[in-house]
Amino acid sequence: MSAILTTKGLTVRYGGNVALQPLDLEIPEASLITVVGSNGAGKSTLLSAIAGWSRGKAIQTGDVFLREEDISKRSTVYRANAGVTLVPESHSIFYSLTVEENLTLHRESHREGQRSLEEIYELLPRLAERKKQQAGSLSGGQRQMLAIGRALIANPTLLMLDEPSIGLAPQVIVEILQFVRNLVDSGMSVLLSEQNVTAVLGVSDELILLERGSVLTRGTPDELKDDPRLIDAYLGTES
Ligand SMILES: Nc1ncnc2c1ncn2[C@@H]1O[C@H](COP(=O)(O)OP(=O)(O)O)[C@@H](O)[C@H]1O
Ligand SMILES: [Mg+2]
Repeated sequence: MSAILTTKGLTVRYGGNVALQPLDLEIPEASLITVVGSNGAGKSTLLSAIAGWSRGKAIQTGDVFLREEDISKRSTVYRANAGVTLVPESHSIFYSLTVEENLTLHRESHREGQRSLEEIYELLPRLAERKKQQAGSLSGGQRQMLAIGRALIANPTLLMLDEPSIGLAPQVIVEILQFVRNLVDSGMSVLLSEQNVTAVLGVSDELILLERGSVLTRGTPDELKDDPRLIDAYLGTES
């Protein structure tokens, strides 16, 4: 299967601190790849680097390809318009705006292939029920769904979600990850980052275990579920 996104020797450092060691990654079309690893492993750094975004003074080397196109030097906006969208850990939704205002805020009327509000509401009926409600009054799970809904407006080819389960109740996590799995089953490619390994085992096609910016191992959930390195990383987040 062809890759939707490829990184070649992608590295990121913040000053002298190397946050991502040279990384070669292929994301096959219509698959759900999950980057797991403890706090500080480099998960957010990787997703941000692919989105062309950084929180601090990140110095990036190596290449990122969207299908055959080298997007390494392209801006975040360019990448988003080309279909690479990141839902950051902080969600980037506006609490003082309503659900519907959040969804329509960055809608560009001239862009082809965008999803309509109706399509988003069809995918996420709970948002439709709350469209006039302020985003700040939503539950944690509903906020995450709203953040995902906003990202889906642009109809991304690669959707990246940075730790979508953070702070959410187990049942809500299951619901969100199943929703994401359904998107993948209907053809979207997703790159997820998670500390919550157990939650993603059942939905991921492949796991990539990061530690201190390096890939320790990668494989299918079946191949890795009993791997002591995965268990270590997981237990590391429990303490
Ligand atoms: N803006 C920044 N400035 C300096 N160092 C950073 C910054 N963001 C992350 N780091 C460092 O990069 C490493 C990876 O961080 P991060 O990608 O946030 O990990 P994760 O998302 O897996 O928790 C850590 O050592 C972290 O301290
Ligand atoms: Mg992170």
